[in-house]
Amino acid sequence: MNIAVFSAKPYDREFLSRANAALSSSSSSSSSSSSSPSSSEPYKLTFHDFALSTETASLARGADAVCVFVNDILSSDVLHALHDAGVRAVLLRCAGYNHVDLEAAEQLGLFVANVPAYSPEAVAEFAVALVQTLNRKTHRAYNRVREGNFSLDGLMGRTLSGKTVGVVGTGRIGVALARILRGFGCRLLAYDPFPADAFRELGGEYVGLDRLLAESDFVSLHCPLSESTRHIINSETLGKIKKGAMLINTSRGALVDTPSVIDALKSQHLGGLALDVYEAEGGLFYQDHSLEIIQDDDFSRLMTFPNVLVCGHQAFFTEEAVTEIAECTMRNLQDFVNRVPCQNSLVKRDDKLAPVRI
Ligand SMILES: NC(=O)c1ccc[n+]([C@@H]2O[C@H](COP(=O)([O-])OP(=O)(O)OC[C@H]3O[C@@H](n4cnc5c(N)ncnc54)[C@H](O)[C@@H]3O)[C@@H](O)[C@H]2O)c1
Repeated sequence: MNIAVFSAKPYDREFLSRANAALSSSSSSSSSSSSSPSSSEPYKLTFHDFALSTETASLARGADAVCVFVNDILSSDVLHALHDAGVRAVLLRCAGYNHVDLEAAEQLGLFVANVPAYSPEAVAEFAVALVQTLNRKTHRAYNRVREGNFSLDGLMGRTLSGKTVGVVGTGRIGVALARILRGFGCRLLAYDPFPADAFRELGGEYVGLDRLLAESDFVSLHCPLSESTRHIINSETLGKIKKGAMLINTSRGALVDTPSVIDALKSQHLGGLALDVYEAEGGLFYQDHSLEIIQDDDFSRLMTFPNVLVCGHQAFFTEEAVTEIAECTMRNLQDFVNRVPCQNSLVKRDDKLAPVRI
């Protein structure tokens, strides 16, 4: 069986090849660090370093499944092109599936599965790293000291203990973040239409979004991107945020309306912004653009603020999480091949519609 892996980076090759080999020999998987597929691997993985799009979908011809990441495009057009090329399964190497037209996939009888939980602590810990970098200004201190400037002017932060943190979305990552922040001695507020006992057990309190914004010193976004959450942070909600509060987004870029956040930073109502995700990240992230002129003026404006920190969608990027992503992707594929119910399936599907060729 052939799998076309799109947006494949060197670490994807390494970890997916290892997980593939482990399907036939679990003992060798734990000690192997080789990135080259061995003859014992049950599936043939073809790695493409470019993204899946209408232009590249035809390159999946001959593959039974595609394996994709967050910025690959899985619109109705692309899914139809994949289906025409003989593809029957879409394996997401990520939790979010806002970039997949699931309705079209279902109509085509495609199998689609994600990796819903891969070390939520990895993302939560990164959110804490962003909070503390932004708050204690270690990104600025790092550069100053390297230039022989040991002045502390402008580097004053705030003690996290006793501060109020507002968590928007208390699923796996939001609760993991709350658990860490409780250790810092923070007061925890959350907004989620589906409250979780796990958050309350940490001493957290559920409130409406308006109250969360008004009382929080730090607001961290952990809800999925959907039509109801798109631009949940906009000019109106930013107007309700406590003056000087810092906003952290490690979830999906389009939760935040960028021009509104730029205005809130310019007026100094918003005290700081840390992003691991950006609405128009598709054309920027995961590539080296250092020799190019960036054409995205909103992004370029964000880069001019001293109290803005942007990372290139790396919150998931730990050895543990990448291992789990690769292994879970292979387990999803096995379920598809063996025609057994897959707990990570995102579509209702009639197996008879999708004959499996091995
Ligand atoms: N930056 C990264 O590397 C990275 C990695 C993994 C996941 N993510 C993002 O993090 C998000 C959260 O992941 P998770 O595993 O915690 O998901 P999850 O499904 O476990 O939790 C999401 C929570 O958001 C809540 N929610 C839904 N609509 C809401 C709304 N309108 N307002 C507030 N809350 C709402 C849900 O009820 C749920 O409790 C994912 O959707 C994904 O986009 C980012």
